[in-house]
Amino acid sequence: MTKILITGSRGFLGSNLIHTLSGNRNYEIFSTSRTGDPAGQKNERFFQGDLLDKSFVDNLISTIEPDVVINTVSLVNVDLCEEKPDLAEKMIVDTARTIAGSLSERECHLIHISSDQLFDGQKMMYSEEDLPAPLNVYGTMKLKAEDTVRHLAPDAAIIRTNFFGWSPRYHPPTFAEWIFNSLREKTPITLFTDLYFCPIEVSYLTEALEFVMRSDFGGVLNIVGSERCSKYEFGMALARKFGFDTSTITPSTTKPDSFKARRQGDLSLSISKYEHMFSRKTPGLEENLSRFYQNRDIKSHLG
Ligand SMILES: NC(=O)c1ccc[n+]([C@@H]2O[C@H](COP(=O)([O-])OP(=O)(O)OC[C@H]3O[C@@H](n4cnc5c(N)ncnc54)[C@H](OP(=O)(O)O)[C@@H]3O)[C@@H](O)[C@H]2O)c1
Repeated sequence: MTKILITGSRGFLGSNLIHTLSGNRNYEIFSTSRTGDPAGQKNERFFQGDLLDKSFVDNLISTIEPDVVINTVSLVNVDLCEEKPDLAEKMIVDTARTIAGSLSERECHLIHISSDQLFDGQKMMYSEEDLPAPLNVYGTMKLKAEDTVRHLAPDAAIIRTNFFGWSPRYHPPTFAEWIFNSLREKTPITLFTDLYFCPIEVSYLTEALEFVMRSDFGGVLNIVGSERCSKYEFGMALARKFGFDTSTITPSTTKPDSFKARRQGDLSLSISKYEHMFSRKTPGLEENLSRFYQNRDIKSHLG
């Protein structure tokens, strides 16, 4: 049995990871979050606690003795990070330090989830070798968390990603859910034509993370969708997939005051290293959206 600990288990990625991995009888799933477990019916052992509490984390690790830890904890609201950089540092960097520090003397494969927001967005399809140059507090803290993990757990896998999908019912709507809800309710929305990314549907990401988990991979790895698109193109393709009227979507370019935090024009990442290492390609936009469509009833199974 492989013992897997998932941190941030009530979150978007954490709950989807548990959904994917708990179906495998060879895995023993442990999970942790600050707030209580709302479902309590999953095939997992849940521990409630704060990753900033070093004694809680040390106890957790010595009790479970995990073979793998997948750390999804973060503050993901980019504008809130800009407003509250101290909070961002605590939730992004300090939590990563506690978990990586607690594992540093152990034989455990740490998989730390990072972001595509580490670059200035002046070029496209960034590789793992490109030099990060974050434009906002969120990106700065995600980079600092990577450095902290690399220092304390040099064999850790650091995954740079950008994903979309369904989140648990109690979770605030994700970007794709916001688009879906707006289209369903015929609420007009504006989507940017000058912000690019390579989104991967979350269950494809959890499957890819399982490959990383089964390997001994250590280092930085991009795992995103294989196709670059603008936020507008993404929204239009999502609308067409569900058969919604696309006339409620207005294309627009970003203005200097569109967001509190500066945004990069291009967040696209290259998946060449992932393809080479695992002899697999990640899906393009159409395939990712088909999976999003197929999974439309999944929310109640996520907690
Ligand atoms: N969502 C995206 O599109 C996206 C894109 C690129 C990268 N990422 C990265 O992917 C990872 C997962 O993102 P997500 O969207 O799943 O985030 P999320 O839904 O906000 O989940 C993160 C979880 O972290 C937990 N957490 C925060 N502080 C904690 C603490 N001190 N102790 C214990 N748990 C704590 C929160 O749960 P509690 O409130 O219960 O503690 C929260 O549910 C993050 O590293 C993020 O930066 C996300």
